[in-house]
Amino acid sequence: MKKKRVACGLPVFLSSRCKIAPNVIYYTIIRIYKRWGVAVRLLFIGDIVGSPGVHMVLENLPRLIEEYHIDFTVANGENAAGGFGLNRRSYTDLHACGVDCFTLGNHTWDCKEIYALMDSHKNIIRPANYAPGAPGIGYQTFPVCGKTLLVINLIGRVYLPDCDCPFRKLDEILSTQQADWSFVDMHAEATSEKLAMGWHADGRVSAVAGTHTHVQTADARLLPRGTGYITDAGMTGPRDSVLGVDKDIIVRRFITGFSPRFETARGDLQFNAVVFDLTDAGTCTAVEALNFWRPAL
Ligand SMILES: [Fe+2]
Ligand SMILES: [Fe+2]
Repeated sequence: MKKKRVACGLPVFLSSRCKIAPNVIYYTIIRIYKRWGVAVRLLFIGDIVGSPGVHMVLENLPRLIEEYHIDFTVANGENAAGGFGLNRRSYTDLHACGVDCFTLGNHTWDCKEIYALMDSHKNIIRPANYAPGAPGIGYQTFPVCGKTLLVINLIGRVYLPDCDCPFRKLDEILSTQQADWSFVDMHAEATSEKLAMGWHADGRVSAVAGTHTHVQTADARLLPRGTGYITDAGMTGPRDSVLGVDKDIIVRRFITGFSPRFETARGDLQFNAVVFDLTDAGTCTAVEALNFWRPAL
């Protein structure tokens, strides 16, 4: 027997016949430890903005799924098509690289391709509290790890176009749908409305993540009755921007009250997401916010 020490400092004992690299053994042990008691691990990616955001997901998602042992990935795609809605190309690329379900928001109808996409792909959901008769669906149940995950998309009513009450809509959905785990994307402008939704859902859904404001909040936590929560998951897209839009355009608009059409910014890229660990009981035991960036190439 010989003793080896891997980069992290953990001593690993290997027989001379062992062909497995020490770092593989170490990371396998860590993964097993981190998965202890976790029935399903859910990744939620904050609003993906334009081709820079899509690119950042394509570049990182396969690695994150492998590293974190992610079982299911949800992404908010309301800005994937140049900031305005979700188009077929973005959907196809993101789905192929590992996004299992897409939620939307106030930009749902910006791209005309969304109508046909929603008809043919039931893993795209728009806010459930749109008026009855609106195209598409607001929640969907998916098979995950031999059980079921219910994904619900809601939109707030503060500083956003009029819609039905998201709180009563959640009650209505939960009264009719049965699933082992449930996740809510609460797309809202006001932090108060997102926080209120977290408390309203606590103990009744597995996790709630806010979206729309594009800045990741530092309040990822477990609520007392077992719901994982974050006020805003953040934005995946151009970093040197204002919410993904070219910063010069937005600064000019604030100063003069006028600006050209919004353009997606270029340059450095950021990735914002949240990982939720869920138990067999449907509760959440850990919430981890992911926030990293890389320079423009
Ligand atoms: Fe957005
Ligand atoms: Fe939005």
